Amino acid sequence: MTADIRAFRAQILHFIDAPNPQTGAGVEYFADGVLLVEHGRIKAVGDAQVMAAQGLDLTRCEHFPEHLLMPGFIDSHIHCPQAGVIASYGEQLLDWLNLYTFPAELQFSDPDFAAAAAEQFLQFLLQNGTTSAMVYTTVFAQSTHAFFTAAEKLNMRMIAGKVTMDRHAPAALLDTAQTSYADCRELIDRWHNIQRLHYALTPRFALTSSPEQLALTGKLYREYPDLYLQTHLAENPQEIALIKSLYPSARDYLDVYDHYGLLGSRSVFGHGIHLSELEIERLAQTQSGIAFCPTSNLFLGSGLLDMARLERAGISVSLATDVGGGTSFSQLRSLAEAYKILQLQGQSLHPLKGFYMATLGNARALQLDHCIGNFAPGKEADFILINLAATPLQTLRQSSAQTLAEKLFALMMLGDEHNIARVYIMGKLMFQRAASSRG
Ligand code: GUN
Ligand code: ZN
Repeated sequence: MTADIRAFRAQILHFIDAPNPQTGAGVEYFADGVLLVEHGRIKAVGDAQVMAAQGLDLTRCEHFPEHLLMPGFIDSHIHCPQAGVIASYGEQLLDWLNLYTFPAELQFSDPDFAAAAAEQFLQFLLQNGTTSAMVYTTVFAQSTHAFFTAAEKLNMRMIAGKVTMDRHAPAALLDTAQTSYADCRELIDRWHNIQRLHYALTPRFALTSSPEQLALTGKLYREYPDLYLQTHLAENPQEIALIKSLYPSARDYLDVYDHYGLLGSRSVFGHGIHLSELEIERLAQTQSGIAFCPTSNLFLGSGLLDMARLERAGISVSLATDVGGGTSFSQLRSLAEAYKILQLQGQSLHPLKGFYMATLGNARALQLDHCIGNFAPGKEADFILINLAATPLQTLRQSSAQTLAEKLFALMMLGDEHNIARVYIMGKLMFQRAASSRG
């Protein structure tokens, strides 16, 4: 083993495809595994004894026998400026935006505030084991610059964009169709595909964008074919009624975005809870994705996503926190609430499927699976070490868990950021949790 290669020995789990829980296809698990990392990329993964027989010196491994090593979590929908208003009481979507969210986003007009907040936000992601995300910044272009600058410093793979909104919000938070077009162009030229960064056109939602702004967004989307696009869709009944009144000639909510050319395989629509059959058909036809935001959907009382219906139609459903509508940065918490949402509808979420969604599934949904999401050789070595027993209760529960699926299920139902022991970005240690007094 050359000096440039680092070896991490632990229980190792990753996915090579969507898992079949019955047969185990798609899952690769090593109870005693080794991950080799060279120059920040995956060199190999395998069983420790097999690799030792092939010449690997196991004494050179960094050894974490009690920990589960897996790819970093990916979050497909989250708002950088909303960390400070997480857990704000009492409202559903539209009042929640007006009362808490818009005032919080106004603070980002101050460049120093925006820079400090972006750095803190990325630390929150790391502390929760999230190594990549698709992120809304604010309407202020400099807050998007601040976000990309902070992400570049940490060398994280991130998708982000400036929120565009030119109506139905406080005047100080509005751009115009023309300024947003110009600002987005500048941001794209500066940041898109630079280092590990990507740009997402980010019209907040149809309520806060004029037809002119959506038309110019569509123009940009055509001008730069490898951009992403993110927005909100069919989250809340009052929101949907307002969209209907603002766009009376549209067939439905999705049709507003469709009309301006905003659908496609690089488009991620947040929520999509209340959709008609026609909307589902059109999402599927255009290969557009839905970001499932369980803690947000429950917290804001938005509704229960019928994930089985979307998946039956062939729509890619990714997993997201939607902080600060969501109540946790932890994708473990997202999985727990997703499970309960599906239980209420007679569906389920197998833990293998859940951890696939949080890693390779989300990488695929964001078209990043060529570089992140699992431990295929050559991919970027973003990975986490998970403590399966971070509290006395978890220790008790894990002690009776027999199978990998059982262990993972207990982790996803009981876990949170306290289970995240270490986080690596391209092989470099970026976060290490102090020894816990919890258990
Ligand atoms: N719809 C429009 N803006 C937002 C937002 O910031 N959060 C959520 N959850 N929904 C939205
Ligand atoms: Zn959102």
